Amino acid sequence: MATQSMTVGAKSGSNSAGYKRIVYIICAVAALGGLLFGLDQGFIANSLTTIDGYYHLGVQGGERYSAILATGGIVGALLSGIFARFLGRKRSLLFAGFIFTTASALSAMLPSLPVLSACRFALGFGVGVASFIVPLYLAETAPAAIRGSMGTLFQLMITIGIFLISLTNVLIARAFTNPSTSLPLMFLTITLFAALMFFGGFILPESPRWLMLKRRKEQAIAVLQRTLNTQQEIDAEIAEIEQALHGPQGAGISIVLRGYFFKVLVVGVLLQMFQQLVGINMMIYYSPTIFGYAGITGFLAAMTVPTVNMIFTFPAIHLVEKWGRKKLLYVGAVAMLVTMIAAGAAFQSIGANPAGISGTVKAVLLASAVVYIFGFAVSWGPVAWLVCSEIFPLEGREVGMTITTMVNWTFAGLVMGNALSFMNAHGNASIFFVFGGFCLLAILFVAMFVPETKGITLEEMEFNLKAGVPLRRLGERSAVRTGN
Ligand code: BGC
Repeated sequence: MATQSMTVGAKSGSNSAGYKRIVYIICAVAALGGLLFGLDQGFIANSLTTIDGYYHLGVQGGERYSAILATGGIVGALLSGIFARFLGRKRSLLFAGFIFTTASALSAMLPSLPVLSACRFALGFGVGVASFIVPLYLAETAPAAIRGSMGTLFQLMITIGIFLISLTNVLIARAFTNPSTSLPLMFLTITLFAALMFFGGFILPESPRWLMLKRRKEQAIAVLQRTLNTQQEIDAEIAEIEQALHGPQGAGISIVLRGYFFKVLVVGVLLQMFQQLVGINMMIYYSPTIFGYAGITGFLAAMTVPTVNMIFTFPAIHLVEKWGRKKLLYVGAVAMLVTMIAAGAAFQSIGANPAGISGTVKAVLLASAVVYIFGFAVSWGPVAWLVCSEIFPLEGREVGMTITTMVNWTFAGLVMGNALSFMNAHGNASIFFVFGGFCLLAILFVAMFVPETKGITLEEMEFNLKAGVPLRRLGERSAVRTGN
């Protein structure tokens, strides 16, 4: 996510005369990658009833269809490093755009259930590839001065995508009550943006870093002439790339056996695991269904979660630098803990009879959902990805981020694939207490193991890590000097 933008780093090379048009095109096409992630992730919430109306999936079938996106995401994330290296960044982006376009267009033809499910797997695969390639491409191709903001833009676009598809799906479902008309239109909304990304991808330049890696310096210079303004900027960029290519290169998977790497890998893995086990995707995927269990329906049930999620991602961008990562993680986890318990208690009081639900209980449920999503959007949403992009030493960054991304998708799949049936089997209140328990564990984990990574360079942190500084103090400038 906000990944390599941090790692390749913002240097001094800002443009004096504004950016060339191609730079805006690069940013727009890459932003579409983030948007498509969100469109696919947010698709289910307000389409589940329509899908069920056409395919008669039932609760478990619906969960299976939803969760297969995550399986595709795991495979896509696993293979994206290979695509990036061998196909190049541009062709990998085109490939992801092609998958998004064809899989959503094919779904719009309302094929048999196995084909529809294969398409959702393919969409997940595209998301897995895009979530690795887009930030990498941006970090390598966008001018240095805007790389940082481009990284966070990607994250923001995910939440905008979730919001947008939630809204269009609600509007389509209201306008066309027959699923054989509404469902194709829902899928075609994704196709529209996917096609923009695919065709837009053809005018993108290849990443100059990848070209240099492949010893195609002439072509790299030609790209930089298109994106940068002055010869001085071009020379500085080429010098920096050459220096980076002489530095430590990407290590293989065996790096996980090195003690210092293993330590930060555990932090990254647990961060991504908890990011999912606090229950976010139950709310993103099933909030209209869950609100329905409590007798809350209509626009409020359909749009509360995606709207709050998008709005509160904006302050996060500013607060991660002001408050730091850990403070945000605490604030978010406490907000989610309290609201999960409140929502669980509300469901317990409703029991099996939503018809008699009081106005107060409804208000508690809605308020809990709003504060819960606020808690996630402002903290664990962006921060888990950000910290994972910061803690790995350079030579193991690709391996570390591939593994942690796969962990994220694995636990996302677990939540998407089981939340509703867990509620049906153990009572509606149960799952909220389970997720509340994970929020508590997440707080303990942050207190004991997560370093504060604000305001320290990645190189300093790497130095601390290799000098054996304890995990929690990894982000402290003076940690080595004070004798750890
Ligand atoms: C998570 C996704 C989630 C999204 C919601 C991301 O950071 O990884 O699983 O759906 O946030 O905004």
